[in-house]
Amino acid sequence: MGVIQQLPEDVVRKIAAGEVIVRPANAVKELIENSLDAGATEITVTIKEGGMTLLQVKDNGTGIYKDDLPLVCERFATSKLRSIDDLSRMTTFGFRGEALASIAMVSSLNVTSKRRDAPCAYQIAYKNGAMTGRIRPSAGGDGTTITVDGLFEASESRRAALKNHAEESARVIDIVAKYAVHRPDVSFIVMRDERGCDLRSLGTGKREDVLGVLYGDELCKEALVLRLNDPTLHFEMEGIMASPYSIHSAEAKDSKRKRNKQFVLFINNRPVSCAVLKSSTEQTLASKGLATTYLMMALMIDPSRVDVNVHPTKDCVFFLQQDDVTERIQEYLDAVLEADINKYRPKLPSLQSMMEAQMLAPLGLSRSSDSVKTPQPTKSDSSEKRCDYNLVRVSGSERRLEQFFLPGHSSAHATVDTVDAPSSQEDYRVTESGTREFSLESIESLRQSVIRESSTELRAIFKGHFVVGCASPECVLLQHDTTLYACTLQTLLEEIMYQIILFSLGNLGSYRLDEPLPVVELLKASGCEEGDEQLKEAATFLSSKASMLNDFFSLNFEEIQETDGGEARVCITTLPSLIHAHSPQMAALPELILCLLVEVDWDEEIRCIEGVARSIAAFYGLHKRWLDGDLYSSDGNTKWTSVKDRLFPPSKWTEAGILTPLTSIHDLYKIFERC
Ligand SMILES: Nc1ncnc2c1ncn2[C@@H]1O[C@H](COP(=O)(O)OP(=O)(O)OP(=O)(O)O)[C@@H](O)[C@H]1O
Ligand SMILES: [Mg+2]
Repeated sequence: MGVIQQLPEDVVRKIAAGEVIVRPANAVKELIENSLDAGATEITVTIKEGGMTLLQVKDNGTGIYKDDLPLVCERFATSKLRSIDDLSRMTTFGFRGEALASIAMVSSLNVTSKRRDAPCAYQIAYKNGAMTGRIRPSAGGDGTTITVDGLFEASESRRAALKNHAEESARVIDIVAKYAVHRPDVSFIVMRDERGCDLRSLGTGKREDVLGVLYGDELCKEALVLRLNDPTLHFEMEGIMASPYSIHSAEAKDSKRKRNKQFVLFINNRPVSCAVLKSSTEQTLASKGLATTYLMMALMIDPSRVDVNVHPTKDCVFFLQQDDVTERIQEYLDAVLEADINKYRPKLPSLQSMMEAQMLAPLGLSRSSDSVKTPQPTKSDSSEKRCDYNLVRVSGSERRLEQFFLPGHSSAHATVDTVDAPSSQEDYRVTESGTREFSLESIESLRQSVIRESSTELRAIFKGHFVVGCASPECVLLQHDTTLYACTLQTLLEEIMYQIILFSLGNLGSYRLDEPLPVVELLKASGCEEGDEQLKEAATFLSSKASMLNDFFSLNFEEIQETDGGEARVCITTLPSLIHAHSPQMAALPELILCLLVEVDWDEEIRCIEGVARSIAAFYGLHKRWLDGDLYSSDGNTKWTSVKDRLFPPSKWTEAGILTPLTSIHDLYKIFERC
């Protein structure tokens, strides 16, 4: 006796329904596709508990004829396909006449629809695949509303498997987002658990608008628009890719972004998955060391070359010459990325962001008489400024003005005339080019010691090197010949500045501050807690050195009478210009003034010149603009080239690890040869 039996019709229908509608997101997809097929321009999706309790899709499409209502939930009843030949010409999402029947089979489903020419809307209800009651007139505007209650009510196991409502909601939102991106001309809204609007696209027709709303403007800012037409392979592709980033960058390490990577593919308007295309695009990006957070590609392939009837869920399609199409897209992406590859390479680490928390934005500076506003510290705002400047000073507690006033240490008055102030005519001669040449032994000796203490080997390295990039804000990578070196950036820059000052002493250009800055206020801003009298004394001391500082270093201090008739204040009025267009970090000016007072040995000429030069070099050395990339811009590179040729790198740098060889091509070759 045989055991095979024909399954009852309702069991067959239930099994089939389970294949089409696996979870709420599948139902939403089918309903949205029906709305789009009906020419809707506004689609509102409402869900409760991930769509398991309530799922509703409302559109403003053509609506359904009253006479068609008894058929909408009949299996294989469709208005879109008439014969099998039509399959190769399908332009609608639906064609199987299965979706509504499947949903109705596993839920309570209500259809309310009104065609534009109908006097009113009509309603029909289904429960577990069977019509309940008659067609009834109903209230409702043009279009169709399909309401699904109690999805999988009869299937305990399916409900149990889908009990994570948050995940189901996310899947629903995700599927709507895909259609919203693909159809920017249609307005999509998702309302979840009566919590208001979770997603809203405006239907402006602009894909950037939708992406901006869904993923933030950041994504579209530098997004790549993709467009490819290949008549020989009978396809067109358009898409959008969020600006790629280097897989070595901080962004790549941001796990959140990694998890959020999205690859969205539409083939002939259907959202489909295609593992081959996905992995090939990922490979193309990876071969360039790049990744992206969002990539959407919409392929239009001649319908006769596509088989959409692969699976009831229709999320898989086959098309002819799949490998050739994939390869062509890969080639295209490769060319698009290569065109702008430098843009995506790791950006130089920005010191600015790190400093911003600690530093004031640089105050305005003007070269010569150019007027750039420089805020003048006043008594009323000094406390605020002091607070910010304080943060700049790292060793405020260690280096205090007391050192300057300590008994035995040179006091302001005692040292006034120790270092001879301005260079007299006998101290220098003017060369043909108009520069002043000093015959001062101290200067000559400082210059000689720089040359004597420099290393010929390091000099050759610096002369022939080029900058690879910044490994960190403190470390710059330099390549010379086949060797890669790590160099401590701050030490390098300070030495460059020091040598520029030393070899151009008395010939430096100057910046004039737009408004003179009072020394006392600057000292307060640097963290000095001495009384006003002591600070004034310090200012007077600097003023007594003014002619020497101005003459040699283009650093000028002047006594300026207050307009309101108050007492005269010692102010700084000019700063030296060391490298063309390189202005110092003004937030560190209070630190410079303090250094001049406490770190410079004013008793001995040679030590004094060296000390002032070193203090100014430290002030100019570290500049956020250089680290932000200015150093590597065409302008920055010229600056760099002109200074690196003149540098005498001290031999002690090798021992001190200022310049450390990291690796050489030769060594790398040996490693990679073995791999
Ligand atoms: N929102 C709607 N607006 C207008 N007509 C609709 C709407 N939803 C369904 N219909 C009508 O109901 C019919 C049945 O829909 P259903 O989704 O079950 O099948 P289909 O879309 O034709 O094919 P498929 O099963 O492949 O989606 C459709 O052919 C269409 O005529
Ligand atoms: Mg359909």
